Amino acid sequence: METSITTLISHFASFLPLTSSIFTILALSAGVLSYFYGPLWGVRKVPGPPAIPLVGHLPLLAKHGPDLFSVLAKKYGPVFRFHMGRQPLVIVADAELCRQVGIKKFKEIPNRSIPSPILASPLHRKGLFWIRDSRWSTMRNTILSMYQPTHLAKLVPMMQSFIETASQNLPVDNDQDINLNELSLKMATDVIGKAAFGFDFGLSKPNNHQDNDEQIDSFVKQHIYSTKMLKMDLSASFSIILGLLLPILQEPFRQILKRIPYTMDWKFEKTNMNLNSQLDEIVVKKMEDKERGSQDFLSLILNARESETASTKLFTPDYISGIAYEHLLAGSATTSFTLSSAVYLISGHPEVEKKLLEEIDAFGPRDQVPTADDLQSRFPYLDQVVKESMRFFIVSPLVARETSTEVEIGGYVLPKGTWVWMAIGVLAKDPKNFPDPEKFNPERFDPNCDEKKQRHPYAYIPFGIGPRACIGQKFSLLEIKLTLVYLYQRYVFKHSPNMETPLEFDFGIVLNFKYGVKVRAIKRT
Ligand code: HEM
Repeated sequence: METSITTLISHFASFLPLTSSIFTILALSAGVLSYFYGPLWGVRKVPGPPAIPLVGHLPLLAKHGPDLFSVLAKKYGPVFRFHMGRQPLVIVADAELCRQVGIKKFKEIPNRSIPSPILASPLHRKGLFWIRDSRWSTMRNTILSMYQPTHLAKLVPMMQSFIETASQNLPVDNDQDINLNELSLKMATDVIGKAAFGFDFGLSKPNNHQDNDEQIDSFVKQHIYSTKMLKMDLSASFSIILGLLLPILQEPFRQILKRIPYTMDWKFEKTNMNLNSQLDEIVVKKMEDKERGSQDFLSLILNARESETASTKLFTPDYISGIAYEHLLAGSATTSFTLSSAVYLISGHPEVEKKLLEEIDAFGPRDQVPTADDLQSRFPYLDQVVKESMRFFIVSPLVARETSTEVEIGGYVLPKGTWVWMAIGVLAKDPKNFPDPEKFNPERFDPNCDEKKQRHPYAYIPFGIGPRACIGQKFSLLEIKLTLVYLYQRYVFKHSPNMETPLEFDFGIVLNFKYGVKVRAIKRT
């Protein structure tokens, strides 16, 4: 008996290495499977197209661009799954469900999910856009005072002076192209630079290269490079791609790659460090300036920081730089895209241009500058034109959120940590709310028309929704309308023959025209 037990044990022992290898392989496979399919498990009941392992639906996105979400909504209904690499998103493409996500269930869904391009960039991560929970609410409340209508109204003369400077040397009545994107990006950067930091980048000045502006020029070039690098596709830097496919490896690889010269990660890190140190310099100068007053946003934050203990803890120098930088980013590309879209669309629609010119001419002499109140009350058609332009080319077709706890949306119970994104671009092109959606028709925003009255109140949300909606909405509308009034008081525009048809877009963190908007200016008589 004893011999047979010993034989059995020795027999078993001879299999032990094999058994333990099998266990290791099984455990590894289970680990890999749960890593890849774990995020999917909680949302598996939400419908969606079959996903390719690792890349998910990214190839579909590369093929269709943001139109993909309209295609998927048609096929799968108002709540569907989209896999950004390994990460499943629950996409909500219905106005009432957006109200649920953005407003009614804000307590359960208060933050944005952080995509891999942002994880790779500490500078971007510390802005209001990505911070979370109580840090976000305290910071937002402090910053909000800068966006009160009374403060904004005071910014009109400053905005006007940059608009005038930027338009000073417009080539007129000849065959020279104006790249509207470039022009409006410089102007919008100057405006936000002044409003946010009290700093004049001087980009709108003609021949700005002449006087010691190399540093500023390089700052802005780096800023544009850093923003363009925030891509959400497979042409991004290697660590960002890893973040989409194998997030666990993103940070270790970023740490290695940022030290290897000439990789995209190295260039991105170098650019961000440069930007950071220049921003820190601006912040330190402001901190030391006892006469800084409260005209710009940076001064407001620093004043709050010095007067409240809570703010001192939150507004550490790195967060101040993060928020300052975010303003530069959020306040320039979005505004310049909207301005360029509006001029492009108006130029292609003579009946809209005629009606707009009538309204602008009725306001008064050509050099009369509207106040913030005038812009509110005396330009109803301009308001409709801007709204329709922002519907037609929506700057940010997707708006991100993440659940902080289990929550039900559209009949699906979503676990904590689910990425829920609102497809506001799909809403803006939904024929249910916008009949004939591919038609540029500002009249659809006439408050007295049936289409407007019947529309769901949250079908049109280009600035997002709820407590996390865009903080700069009123600021940017003021700037956009002021610029359009100034331009159309003096000029009309026509498309340049050098403009591509159909238009091509870049899908970065915000939408952009791939080759800019090229127009020619004609002076009004
Ligand atoms: C045409 C111009 C603009 C458009 C279309 C736009 C659009 C948006 C959208 C869609 C969001 C996300 C909202 C949400 O999640 O519900 C957002 C957030 C934000 N925007 Fe804008 N934006 C514009 C201009 C600006 C400007 C000029 C600034 C700053 C001066 C700005 C600063 C911000 C900030 C800080 C947030 C994050 C707010 C928070 O999480 O509390 N935006 N914007």
